Amino acid sequence: MRIAVLCSRIRAEEKLLLMELERRGLEYVRIDDREHVFDLHAHNYPFDVVLERAIQHSRAVYMLKIFEDAGLPTVNSHRVAVTCGDKFLVTQAMIHAGIPTPGCLLAFTPESALAGIEQLGYPVVLKPVVGSWGRMVSKINDRDAAEAVLEHRSVLGNYQHTIFYIQEYIDKPGRDIRSFVIGDECIGAIYRSSDHWITNTARGGHASNCPLTPELIDLSLRAAQAIGGGVVAIDLLETKDGRLLVNEVNYTMEFRNSIETTGVDIPARIIDYVLAVGRGRL
Ligand SMILES: Nc1ncnc2c1ncn2[C@@H]1O[C@H](COP(=O)(O)OP(=O)(O)O)[C@@H](O)[C@H]1O
Ligand SMILES: [Mg+2]
Repeated sequence: MRIAVLCSRIRAEEKLLLMELERRGLEYVRIDDREHVFDLHAHNYPFDVVLERAIQHSRAVYMLKIFEDAGLPTVNSHRVAVTCGDKFLVTQAMIHAGIPTPGCLLAFTPESALAGIEQLGYPVVLKPVVGSWGRMVSKINDRDAAEAVLEHRSVLGNYQHTIFYIQEYIDKPGRDIRSFVIGDECIGAIYRSSDHWITNTARGGHASNCPLTPELIDLSLRAAQAIGGGVVAIDLLETKDGRLLVNEVNYTMEFRNSIETTGVDIPARIIDYVLAVGRGRL
């Protein structure tokens, strides 16, 4: 089994995955998206399965398409990358699969976005549809703030910043939940706690173990299934009345803070899955 690892800068996660490949004596080749030139007419690649670990969403999507069209199995699939890279597509998938998710509006002009925000009622959360690590995720508490953010977005932003994705603000208990799904198994979950309402660990959120309940497992597996399955991390929000809502689904997930926290050898589980996909067993 020869494995291609698509990556650029090696973060903690990629280091752990490569160490796991080496520990098992597996044959692999690194394809660095900063250096590699892709010949679109080439179809005979000297490997059997592709593990995508790129940092940039746009590059991941292009590379996965190239390898998938060449007939190679990939983790994750091109479809999963496209869907998870866009919060609108994830929300659509949740809604149409009947999975509970926060109220959400979409608008294309600052004027209609403001009308939508007023319709939903303050506070609301405005997010770029493509983005991560909590960047530009904005809580808007009143009309003045709404007008300011919408104007900044439309004057300073690019095309994507005039896709206004507006979510109901969920008054969660100082934390959110991130669960990890690999194939048809929910392997663990963490709480991300913070004094700030944005709880990403990249923004200072603290990770602690979150016990897996039947509800959490069921929602996580259904959310993963709804976007196409594979290796994904699900962000969930707890409501005041004790419900769980799926906020988003992430592919090329980060897990460095979750191995000791959950007690699960996440890189080993990912490599197991990649091998199974490579053998055509999944
Ligand atoms: N609608 C919301 N209500 C309350 N908190 C939210 C809401 N949306 C996002 N958050 C908080 O902000 C964080 C980042 O938002 P998220 O949608 O996951 O974007 P990113 O892709 O940048 O991680 C979440 O982990 C959560 O803590
Ligand atoms: Mg998130």
